[in-house]
Amino acid sequence: MNPPVHIAIVMDGNGRWARSRGLARTEGHRAAETSIHQAVEWCGENGVGHLTLFAFSTENWSRPRAEVSLIMSLLRSFIRRNLEELERKDVRIRAMGRLEGLPAGPRSDLLSAIRRTEGNGGLQLILALNYGGRAELADAARRIAAEVASGALDPSAVDEEAISRRLYLPDVPDPDLVIRTSGEQRISNFLLWQSAYSEFHFPEVLWPDFRKEHLDEALRVYSARQRRFGGLA
Ligand code: FPP
Repeated sequence: MNPPVHIAIVMDGNGRWARSRGLARTEGHRAAETSIHQAVEWCGENGVGHLTLFAFSTENWSRPRAEVSLIMSLLRSFIRRNLEELERKDVRIRAMGRLEGLPAGPRSDLLSAIRRTEGNGGLQLILALNYGGRAELADAARRIAAEVASGALDPSAVDEEAISRRLYLPDVPDPDLVIRTSGEQRISNFLLWQSAYSEFHFPEVLWPDFRKEHLDEALRVYSARQRRFGGLA
């Protein structure tokens, strides 16, 4: 089995991690940064080309206002604290989601990090922000409808490839492996189109405790799987 080219992670369990320590839920989000570092380093060391992290979903706006603000400010401080090091490691920062819906400050920091690292050829660190798989498909459908209405696209040309090309990051390969921490076994509107043939791994570890050894284990599990993509072995 070839090593995964693209790993996508639902960083779940921050709230439970904090609660189990008698801390506020938000402390779990703060503690998440170490795990992000570990995942980025591990991907660099193991030749993984793309790492997508589900950082904020289109549904997460329904959380208490203070928690939403904290996550947005963590995004800013993550970029500010880590940009130089990520540059040194040749990491390219990218983002997927309805970025126009993010608050102005985080959005502007994010866009400038994306621009600054655009030429980097190492790991692509993709942050899914204000992201929902259904929203992404609806956005692609709206673009297709507009192109058909303007006469630029013939309805008979709307095939799977046409949809793929109108997703947020059409050049990024589909994830080979999707990991969701904390034992929850749900996709929660993450990469619905792209994960059609992904392998899934659901370790019990809560995201703030996630370390390189958990990725070693995920790789072992992945390598033992047989991917058939609907065909025969
Ligand atoms: C899920 O845990 C986690 C989130 C909804 C937010 C993830 C955000 C970060 C890790 C920080 C911001 C991002 C960056 C890139 C710095 P949960 O709160 O649902 O945990 P629970 O299920 O235990 O309550």
